[in-house]
Amino acid sequence: MIYQIYPRSFMDSNADGTGDLPGINSRLEYLEWLGVDAIWISPIYPSPMADFGYDVSNYTDIDPLFGTLSDFDSLVQTAHAHDMRVILDYVPNHSSDQHPWFVASRAGRDDARRDWYLWHEPGADGAPPNNWLSSFGGSAWEWDPASAQYYYHAYLKQQPDLNWRNPEVQAAMYDVLRFWFNRGVDGFRIDALRQVIKDAEFRDNPPDPNWNPGRDPYRRLLPLHSADQPELMDIVHRFREVAEEYPERVLIGELWLTIERLVAYYGREGRGLHLPFNFHLILTPWQAPAISALIDTYEAALPPKAWPNWVLGNHDRSRVATRVGAAQARVAAMLLLTLRGTPTLYNGDEIGMHDVPIPAHLVQDPFEKNVPGIGVGRDPERTPMQWTAGPGAGFTAGMPWLPLADDYREVNVERQRGDPKSMLTLHRRLIELRRRTAALSVGGYAPVYNDDDLLVYERQADDMRVRVALNLSHAARTIPWSEPKSTVMLSTHLDRDGEVGEQLDLRADEGLVLTMP
Ligand code: NOJ
Repeated sequence: MIYQIYPRSFMDSNADGTGDLPGINSRLEYLEWLGVDAIWISPIYPSPMADFGYDVSNYTDIDPLFGTLSDFDSLVQTAHAHDMRVILDYVPNHSSDQHPWFVASRAGRDDARRDWYLWHEPGADGAPPNNWLSSFGGSAWEWDPASAQYYYHAYLKQQPDLNWRNPEVQAAMYDVLRFWFNRGVDGFRIDALRQVIKDAEFRDNPPDPNWNPGRDPYRRLLPLHSADQPELMDIVHRFREVAEEYPERVLIGELWLTIERLVAYYGREGRGLHLPFNFHLILTPWQAPAISALIDTYEAALPPKAWPNWVLGNHDRSRVATRVGAAQARVAAMLLLTLRGTPTLYNGDEIGMHDVPIPAHLVQDPFEKNVPGIGVGRDPERTPMQWTAGPGAGFTAGMPWLPLADDYREVNVERQRGDPKSMLTLHRRLIELRRRTAALSVGGYAPVYNDDDLLVYERQADDMRVRVALNLSHAARTIPWSEPKSTVMLSTHLDRDGEVGEQLDLRADEGLVLTMP
């Protein structure tokens, strides 16, 4: 199980209101108790923080806000001593505009680093070279008056895209991976991977016929020529080759793609990513038929030997408890932790944190600032972790960089650790059950039954069969059960065990894990 840490919001050790590495270190005991196998930490590199660390100005150091390289080394050492792996974020698509590479590149057309980024002559009448859009609003091209060319940025203008068709860029960025692998890092989550290589001819993107005004303006066009290009696979192969220089390292790709395109990134014969992130539980409506179809489609699409994975939330999307509601968030946790494949859990989801509305004057996210008022902002899912009912929710002794949720006195780790029926206890028990039950951790998957409200599937390994029955509705439901003598291992309500007779009664919003005879 991978646990995503958004470092600004996890634990603040020095009262500056922002989380840091010593803070994470101080909470490793909690993560071990929870049963985490690996932590993935969103970017901690030096950064002007225009996009809160996804604008890297030095790929091989730690931002002072988060600590020092020696803090990082000690985090890795402690995590490893507790049998937890450490995965870093790798941001190859773009650097910060403050990175010395870009500062040089911008200095003039003759600079040796000019071609490290994507510079282009203007189009007709001085317009941008093509119609490509920035994910964060507006054109993806920024005019540089001094050198009279445009540069390309898939995200903010403070995040110029590197030119991955330049072999020097490739070599420098592969060395970044080696730098951290040599320090003991166990793997990377690769940011914005689908955008890393763009069409060599920079052809215009076509309009998306399904877009309508009021939706995210980036979606007005289909990113046909600006993402998921055929040449990207060569780069992925090279990432894998670098990872293979070291024993037991993992590569995870951030890829917002259809299932068909997503699974292509496993590559052939183990030459691609270990885990192309599967975000489809975030994208699929929370309805039993849709989810059942999703699982079937994904399972069927996986290439031979590919290991699946599932993600329920992250720092870019509304929290699961907000998307599906508090009661169904328990069912969602059971789904995430009993499906076949590696689950990724976003910090705070294990205690049922919800999106926190952010008043306009406190907005931090540049996406919300650029495209206000249509709900694209990501601050609500990035608020500080709620550790205790005390001041600063136990996250900080200072002023938190984003407001705390108003329910932190009730919804916090300390309180839920002591509550045998809490959301946190449910997560811990599911993780523990998954760990000690081969059918759940490595077994096969087979659908059993679904209707409008119910989702039932089986996991099996050796001669053990485990069934998961999920009620995605707010009403009690009964399943005719042809196999008597199944036994409840765990209910989302944490109040039930024992044998089940010839029918299975699920209460409203209840999920069960059962062993089958
Ligand atoms: C995806 C990251 O998850 C997101 O937070 C970031 O803003 C963009 N990539 C740009 O790096």
